[in-house]
Amino acid sequence: MRKSVVGALVGILGGLMSQGAAAQQVNIICSVQAEWCNMIATVYAKTTGTKVNMSLKGSGESLAQLIAEKDNPKTDVWFGGTGDPHLQAAEQGLSLEYKSPSLAQLHLWAQQQAQQSGYKTVGIYSGPLGFGYNTELLAKKKMAVPKTWADLLKPEYKGDIQVANPASSGTAYTMIATLVQLMGEDKAFDYLKGLHKNVSTYTRSGTGPIKAAARGETAISISFVHDGPGEKMQGFPIETITPTDGTGAEIGSMSLIKGARNLDAAKKFYEWALTPSAQEMGAAAKQFQLPSNKNAKLHPSIPDFKKIKFINYDYAKYGASTERRRLITRWEKEVNSLPK
Ligand code: F6P
Repeated sequence: MRKSVVGALVGILGGLMSQGAAAQQVNIICSVQAEWCNMIATVYAKTTGTKVNMSLKGSGESLAQLIAEKDNPKTDVWFGGTGDPHLQAAEQGLSLEYKSPSLAQLHLWAQQQAQQSGYKTVGIYSGPLGFGYNTELLAKKKMAVPKTWADLLKPEYKGDIQVANPASSGTAYTMIATLVQLMGEDKAFDYLKGLHKNVSTYTRSGTGPIKAAARGETAISISFVHDGPGEKMQGFPIETITPTDGTGAEIGSMSLIKGARNLDAAKKFYEWALTPSAQEMGAAAKQFQLPSNKNAKLHPSIPDFKKIKFINYDYAKYGASTERRRLITRWEKEVNSLPK
């Protein structure tokens, strides 16, 4: 009898708790690929009872949305996407200062991203920029694998390279910032003008070009190399390479939005997203960025950073609003407007 009363009480309490939890809601903009976004939304909703509203957008587009809804924010958390627009959001007062108790568990680069923004964003993953190439298409066209940035200017690649548009894509902005740091600004813009002749399409999303290369719609893409193995696992003939003359890396980031309507729920999600098990979901969804939590298990498909020649990317400088806007405007004016 006693047992059944206790059982009933537990049942009622459980019911009340889950009702309480179910009343919580969190609105997330997600800037990684759909499979990962959907996985975290489903798992988080199931394990916490929180209602998760998720919209998928590239890094530049997410920033544009947050700027547009600044006076009446509809977003609570921005998860993923390249770090530069997150830094810009911090600078423009769109994100909220928050020091996670888990910061010490994160790699230095992720902590630095937080410090640089006045704790208004944090690194959740990192990944190197490089090239994707369709092995079958290159062989068929008797074209060599590009190994350096300069290689991409070869006339044989005309019409066979895709890269994203830096206004909407953080990947493409990372490319511009990388080239400027590697070559100096004017030389980088001369390079981009040369590259323009070989580019068939500037896609909206940063992952568009590697998906096109995987499917044989273009031979070469300029992409984050962690987006390659997932395509290969689906059976596509795609490989990746990082340029031997040096490359940049993104610090994929996460920010709490200032004025978030569901701040309590947002902080809970944020803390969860920094845990090793949440971060391991990237690889489970076949996306192979390096997780920022030092205790997350590393999948063998995650690129080995020690084997890559990196530039000393100045995240603070290239994440500043004026610099990002200036470089994108210069690209629109001097490069994108050119005939092919
Ligand atoms: O895997 C998706 C990804 O490459 C992330 O690593 C990166 O932060 C994001 O895409 C950038 O997307 P976009 O270039 O569309 O802003």
